[in-house]
Amino acid sequence: MVSSTFLVGCSHRSSHPLAGAQILNDSEIAGEKIFMQNCQRCHPQGAAGLGPSILWAPGFAKRFQVRHGVGAMPAFDKDHLSEKELDQLMEYLKALKNN
Ligand code: HEC
Repeated sequence: MVSSTFLVGCSHRSSHPLAGAQILNDSEIAGEKIFMQNCQRCHPQGAAGLGPSILWAPGFAKRFQVRHGVGAMPAFDKDHLSEKELDQLMEYLKALKNN
């Protein structure tokens, strides 16, 4: 787990188009994977689905929401999402918002 997160920074730079427009950097790509696994089913592309649109909530509010959950949204503690993964997730959401 720890070694794999360190490897991300060393791996060759890869890029990946977001909705055909924006190129994501490595940590945004990692964040995209985390998003797809954990958030996509309720917040499709960050927009409203089962949950509300999340793109416009301020960063600190998003982090709080993910860690603690609210209402029907489950909490993601550090066993499920490390600090590093949460950082990557936030970078991905920022990229989505700016797209
Ligand atoms: C099982 C469905 C579900 C999953 C999975 C889920 N959410 Fe949510 N989310 C919700 C619901 C429902 C709400 C509204 C909660 C409320 O206010 O009662 C919400 C609210 C939020 C909000 C607050 C939005 C606002 O402006 O009030 C953020 C930010 C958020 N989710 C981010 C995430 C992220 C990031 C993930 C992945 C780590 C995630 N959610 C996974 C259902 C989900």
